Amino acid sequence: MAITLSFLVAALFASPLGASDASSYARSPPVYPSPPGKGVGIWADAYYSAQDLVGQMTLEEKVNITRGFTVTDNVCAGNTGTVPRLGWPGMCLHDAGNGVRATDLVNSYPSAIHVGASWDKNLTYERAFYMGKEFKAKGINVILGPNAGPLGRSPLGGRNWEGFSVDPYLSGQLNAETIVGHQDAGVIANIKHFIANEQETYRRPYFGVEAISANVDDKTLHEFYLWPFMDGVRAGVASVMCSYNRINNTYGCENSKLLNGILKTELSFDGFVLLDWNARHNLDSANAGLDMLMPGGGSWGDNLTQAIHNGSVNDDRITDMATRILAAWHLVGQNDTSFPTPGIGMKNLTEPHEQVDARIPESKPTILEGAIAGHVLVKNDGALPFKENPRMLSVYGYDATVPDTKNTDVLFQLGYTSSQEMGQAVLGTEQHFDQAAKGGTIVTGGRAGANAPAYIDDPLSAIQYRAKSDGTWVNWDLTSSNPDVNTASDACLVFINAISTEGWDREGLHDDFSDGLVLNVASKCANTIVVIHVAGVRLVDQWIDHPNVTATVIAHLPGQDSGEALVKLLYGEAVFSGKLPYTLAKNESDYAVYAQCGRGPSNTTDPQCDFTEGVYVDYRHFDEKNITPRYEFGYGLSYTTFNYSSLLIETLDTKLGSGGPITSSSDEKLWEFVATVNATITNTGEIGGGEVAQLYLGIPNSPPKQLRGFEKSVLPPGESAEVIFQLTRRDFSVWDVIAQGWTVQEGEYAIYVGASSRDIRLTGSIAV
Ligand code: NOJ
Repeated sequence: MAITLSFLVAALFASPLGASDASSYARSPPVYPSPPGKGVGIWADAYYSAQDLVGQMTLEEKVNITRGFTVTDNVCAGNTGTVPRLGWPGMCLHDAGNGVRATDLVNSYPSAIHVGASWDKNLTYERAFYMGKEFKAKGINVILGPNAGPLGRSPLGGRNWEGFSVDPYLSGQLNAETIVGHQDAGVIANIKHFIANEQETYRRPYFGVEAISANVDDKTLHEFYLWPFMDGVRAGVASVMCSYNRINNTYGCENSKLLNGILKTELSFDGFVLLDWNARHNLDSANAGLDMLMPGGGSWGDNLTQAIHNGSVNDDRITDMATRILAAWHLVGQNDTSFPTPGIGMKNLTEPHEQVDARIPESKPTILEGAIAGHVLVKNDGALPFKENPRMLSVYGYDATVPDTKNTDVLFQLGYTSSQEMGQAVLGTEQHFDQAAKGGTIVTGGRAGANAPAYIDDPLSAIQYRAKSDGTWVNWDLTSSNPDVNTASDACLVFINAISTEGWDREGLHDDFSDGLVLNVASKCANTIVVIHVAGVRLVDQWIDHPNVTATVIAHLPGQDSGEALVKLLYGEAVFSGKLPYTLAKNESDYAVYAQCGRGPSNTTDPQCDFTEGVYVDYRHFDEKNITPRYEFGYGLSYTTFNYSSLLIETLDTKLGSGGPITSSSDEKLWEFVATVNATITNTGEIGGGEVAQLYLGIPNSPPKQLRGFEKSVLPPGESAEVIFQLTRRDFSVWDVIAQGWTVQEGEYAIYVGASSRDIRLTGSIAV
């Protein structure tokens, strides 16, 4: 089989010039035929079983399992067909990021952005594992996550919070942990949205207007947007969701270059490609590498059978589609008879339904620890932790308490009480909702990534619960924009938020009401502590330098244990160890890309978005342009201090720069450890705490620093730990657009180890 790109075709998509020649005339070249799954490595047994089962199926049966059907007795986002003759029960596919969506008796985990802020691989795995168990208990075969895109090209992206980080390396590592955790629990993970799905504005075609075309050059695609998907495929992800948008003017789910060429050939992906719900596709999408339609039969319907009969889709292709789907099912062990009936726990809640309580007690510590770990302390003038039990606390702001309504969707998070569909910001001109969710505290963002919590442990309740045992007097005023302050208050806590949801990009990065509230309280209270729940970046420059703002916590989206986690941190029963998984700028205009393409009035029916900034997104851009951020990528304070020492760099491959470009990411050479970097971290403070040591690499002809390692150590006071960063050949590589492969350039590679992207404590280098 020869899916080979001719040099000419590669050059059309790619750029010999490098990062920033993406243009509105970008074209995605055709790459056919679609490569059949090989079933190697971890897939071998699963393919063997799948091939056996598919071998017994008729054409109609094979077609049936590649599409969705309306099922009225469950609320799964999608249900495949079944093959009763062979006892194949079909599959339920369902969202996702915070836990099982739109049902009861499940937990709400910290959102992905919160997990990203924890920089904790073990917790990430555990969260994914327990979450996966809940999906399985509910009879869900495919969990529609994790999310490797959007990465966060623009800080206004409505779905940025559904991903772990704007950094491809951090995102890739945590996607991999999540995939392994989900699949160890017995559900099929689905990494999404493939690819360059960086905005909600024009996210889908609508009334004759095409979806946005993300015009990305080949180098940027590989080094930035594809990077976390590579980690996902390497981790064994069993399905990938193609995206709504166009990439280089071809829709994601019709894009043979991306699906056949990159995903299934270059990355050797053996699982199945799933349509994002009702995404643009056509009959030829099967030839382009799409394997499953959702939520219905779409343009395939019965036509796919005909297309196979008339030869426009090859019989081998439908066999491959069915094999890939059934291999995924076998890979995670769903052939085991103990797997629940698909959709069993997902009945319509307004009708009599079987109660499937998916929560297991073992998950509780992970949910609480995860909630603690994603809080980032960005300012502390000694206000935290509380020195002794405060005599009087005053609590302000709409975000301190529970919303009025708990809805199984999360529209309550947005101040809406009905679950009506709120439309789509497809044209970028519709009225958006308030930036702040004034109806109550937020523990998740909105729509597909969200779920309804078992309960919400809100900040005010948690503070009051603690006050009961300590004898603290608590005042609260959650509605005034300029509240009165009892001057005897030991501390004033102001709770604000910034919400975001699928379907809309954000209106801005801060709002006047919330900023005014902080300033008003700070003008009357000498010890004002600000806590912000955020679904993305939220600027703080309107008040952060106010001398009475003595501490600020970026609390992200902690899930159901929000209040308890915060109280433990405020009182010093837990220690902050989170770090920002993005850059918090001083001004909107400091970001490489602020507004998305096509915001505001526009007459075009063919919206284009040229990713001319290349890989210079977030801290790569701030470093390159020497822009001082308010708080840099990787930044976060602790209650203790850490010393870094004893940098040791060992090159394991002395011929690192030699050897040809690596064109296939299944080539083991790409993943070999070629260097090891050791450092010693010592807790030099008075109390125990966790530190995330970060390694950045200065690759020649690339951004000044790029994250290539991180390790979290928890240390008692006075103790040290050695952290070991193992660097792969890929970590040193750039994408060579001419050779169409990963290559290590000759030159000097700077090694930076530190507490953030700008707090570098140890430096060294490797000469290649
Ligand atoms: C559309 C969203 O883009 C996707 O992320 C989600 O999984 C599906 N809807 C199903 O709800």
